[in-house]
Amino acid sequence: MKRERLDKVLANMGFGTRKEVKQLVKKKLVVIDGVVATDPGMHVIPEEQEITVDGEPIHFKRWLYIMLNKPPGVVSATEDNLHETVVDLLPYEWAIKVFPVGRLDIDTEGLLILTNDGQLSHNLLSPKKKVDKEYFARIKGRVTDRHVEEFARGVELEDFTTLPAKLEILSSGEISEIRVTIMEGKFHQVKRMFASFDLEVIYLQRVRMGPIHLDENLEPGEYRELTEEEMELLQGYTQKESPASS
Ligand code: URA
Repeated sequence: MKRERLDKVLANMGFGTRKEVKQLVKKKLVVIDGVVATDPGMHVIPEEQEITVDGEPIHFKRWLYIMLNKPPGVVSATEDNLHETVVDLLPYEWAIKVFPVGRLDIDTEGLLILTNDGQLSHNLLSPKKKVDKEYFARIKGRVTDRHVEEFARGVELEDFTTLPAKLEILSSGEISEIRVTIMEGKFHQVKRMFASFDLEVIYLQRVRMGPIHLDENLEPGEYRELTEEEMELLQGYTQKESPASS
């Protein structure tokens, strides 16, 4: 287990800036294993030691894995000059730590995983891993079996040809409803795949990424931590060493 400076641990958990955390220590509000801390620079093992601030035990978690039902209108980034970001939706102590695993367009809704685990993020996004992503979409125009066949062959876009994609028609008409599963995650990929057949995506929602399904109980803008079962599924799926396994 890693030893870390007390002020760093508390600042990372949202107890304030390092300077503010020093004040907490000065006021004798921080207690380590029953002993009042006197040095904000002292080293602690936050997973093993009992740390209380103003009498409340802190719940230290080194690794965070969050499922967000991304609403439209927010950008998949940690900072943006113009728009609200996905991390702005989270509590401060999580927001300062995590980043989104990949991007959804500003108008796309649905499953977004956020974490501070760079290795897991890399594994999920690596083209080599071919993590499949499933979307529900409403399409302006009639989606037919021809499109299903074309998608299954792989769709030629300006810059690359997609891997075979699974297209399932839920309803077909002036507005069609579909599910599509793609193996890559290129910029605007689903929209561009339909656009190449003169079809417009008017609503897009990601419902699955690899083994992780969007929790139907989460309203847009709501989030929760991944469960242990979901973490195990992810571990097995990406089959790579990651802090998520420890
Ligand atoms: N494909 C798109 O076109 N947009 C997204 O946000 C995700 C996949």
